[in-house]
Amino acid sequence: MTAPKALVLAGGEGRRLRPLTYSGPKQLVPVANRPILFFVLDSIVEAGIEDIGVVVSPETGPFVKQAVGDGSAFGARVTYIVQDRPGGLAHAVRCARSFLRDDAFLMVLGDNLIGSPLSPFVRAFQEDPSTEARLLLHEVPDPRRFGVAALDTDGTVIRLVEKPADPPSNLALVGVYLFRASIHAAIDELTPSARGELEITDAANALLSAGKLVRFDRLEGFWLDTGKKDDLLLANETVLAARLEPARLGHVCPQSLIEGTVRVETGATVVRSRVIGPVILGPGAHLEDAEVGPFVSVGAGARVVGTRVARSVLLEGSVVAGAGELERCLLGKRAVVRAAPDASASLVLGDDCEVLLPRG
Ligand code: TTP
Repeated sequence: MTAPKALVLAGGEGRRLRPLTYSGPKQLVPVANRPILFFVLDSIVEAGIEDIGVVVSPETGPFVKQAVGDGSAFGARVTYIVQDRPGGLAHAVRCARSFLRDDAFLMVLGDNLIGSPLSPFVRAFQEDPSTEARLLLHEVPDPRRFGVAALDTDGTVIRLVEKPADPPSNLALVGVYLFRASIHAAIDELTPSARGELEITDAANALLSAGKLVRFDRLEGFWLDTGKKDDLLLANETVLAARLEPARLGHVCPQSLIEGTVRVETGATVVRSRVIGPVILGPGAHLEDAEVGPFVSVGAGARVVGTRVARSVLLEGSVVAGAGELERCLLGKRAVVRAAPDASASLVLGDDCEVLLPRG
């Protein structure tokens, strides 16, 4: 049985993660010091798919190409597809038509993290040629904020509804789909939605209206859409808690205390500090008279001096010095925060920002 292709959507505007996305794509923002997109690519390759198309925007393309290359580092072959404008998920599929040809494909959003393997989902689709599409659904407490599936008792999908006032179920679309070539004709018939995009849910509904069989699987593990600050910080916590492998490759001075799962990468230094895992300190990171953790990712070459930092992501080269207590912060590359010792703050800073908090 030939494996399907995969299509990863790494374009879009990333408005909800500004200002970070002014200087780079959200799919490359790291959790546990690794770009989110890398976890997405891993999960596709783990599902047995090597032929991967990555949709990029003219703005995100150069960054994504530089980070992912030809895909060989992931065990994949990556083809880049430029989407000239963020015209919607179905528009992205249309742009990828010459890559996809008439092959079945797995479509995944490049900024979503999924806590279960995709292989059972892919295998079920391959073994059931009668289904024209297969959707991954996740139980959510408030389905009114999502695309929601109406389901039949025999395990098939009846209809998809975007942000329903009266949800037909509590199972939301998580942005992982399997399609066959029939989706292209459905997309060709679409007109833009109220928000001006070609919607993949409309295309799937067109398949259903034409009497095609669409099945679903429930995602039992976590689903994290990292396109917003709070969800990104939650993704950081989840990945640190679930996947961090402790290591002591850098230098920890005898007056420092390391508790729980902590990874100190090569060239990182910990001086007179307390580190409460899970925490990762990237290569060349430096802690001094600091208390860091739990759930903190400190990027390569970042510095935390005389400050307590918890539940935060500090990108490479950022500096926090004498800033009292910081919690739930997302700091861009080389961002600088300095403050009086009794300050307390929660910040989102883009690359190269500098904040001086008032004393007292
Ligand atoms: P969204 O998060 O829904 O859209 P966005 O990136 O424009 O974000 P925001 O609302 O904050 O401005 O997109 C989900 C994923 O799909 C994300 O990885 C970006 C990608 N995408 C495309 O590749 N092309 C598109 O046309 C759109 C809308 C999204």
